[in-house]
Amino acid sequence: MNFTNKVVLLTGAASGIGAATAVRFSELGAKLAIVDLSAEGLKKTAENCIKCAKSKDQGEPFQIVGDVSKSEDLECIAKSTIKKYKKLDVLANNAGIMEDGTIETTCLEQFDRMIHTNLRSQFYLSLLLVPELLKTKGNIVNTSSICGMRSFPNTLAYNISKAGVDQFTRCVALELGERGVRCNCVNPGVIYTNLQKRYLDENGYKEFLKKAKYTHALARYGQPIEVANVICFLASDLASFITGHNIPVDGGRHAMTPR
Ligand SMILES: NC(=O)c1ccc[n+]([C@@H]2O[C@H](COP(=O)([O-])OP(=O)(O)OC[C@H]3O[C@@H](n4cnc5c(N)ncnc54)[C@H](O)[C@@H]3O)[C@@H](O)[C@H]2O)c1
Repeated sequence: MNFTNKVVLLTGAASGIGAATAVRFSELGAKLAIVDLSAEGLKKTAENCIKCAKSKDQGEPFQIVGDVSKSEDLECIAKSTIKKYKKLDVLANNAGIMEDGTIETTCLEQFDRMIHTNLRSQFYLSLLLVPELLKTKGNIVNTSSICGMRSFPNTLAYNISKAGVDQFTRCVALELGERGVRCNCVNPGVIYTNLQKRYLDENGYKEFLKKAKYTHALARYGQPIEVANVICFLASDLASFITGHNIPVDGGRHAMTPR
């Protein structure tokens, strides 16, 4: 995989899968624009990218502090990235949040928050940047979840947002394929990041991780780098004949009934 002279815009890059993906793209030679709510987290990711960069020509990652659930922030993210690099080759829509709740316990604000952050953000940032991707015959990689493909209990709004990402990915692939732009998504299983830590207490998170032994065919949870590798592969020329795909990166979780 080689991203020399390629410009990659990646959201949710301050932590977890996004932080690992930024570093991997940097190792592979990409020039990066990285987005997150956390300025501190972005700074740390940028430092790690610089340490791992393939060449000095990549420069320091362009850090954009912004909220992907807000239209005006997405407009600013798109505009400032193009102003900085004059082009875009890869859009990696990765930022996301997870909260628990069922049809009886999810309030409307929570539902809207999940849809805005996880799905509407991917739609609007893609809409804003498709003209640039058409120029470079670039591609989009979205981060979905295994929850987009299966219904897991007590995460109703999250499941729905990720099912939307899967369908969005296929629609964009169909619409742009003839003009040379690909669109794919990754569907991770349980990955060791801050995502669930934010809504579970310490014991709850420990129990959640233990269950991965029985819910994943590989009998373990995954690491952020294992998803980052697949995002980079899908964004690379090695995946030149893959589009519209929802790829589980889930230790076989999609294929099994929990033991
Ligand atoms: N960790 C898992 O088990 C898992 C499984 C399936 C899918 N995913 C997906 O992977 C993606 C990355 O999550 P992660 O596991 O690395 O979690 P994480 O919490 O470690 O990282 C998510 C990052 O997104 C950022 N973010 C959240 N809301 C944002 C907003 N409104 N604007 C800008 N940035 C925002 C956070 O600040 C954080 O840095 C998400 O889309 C998540 O749904 C994660």
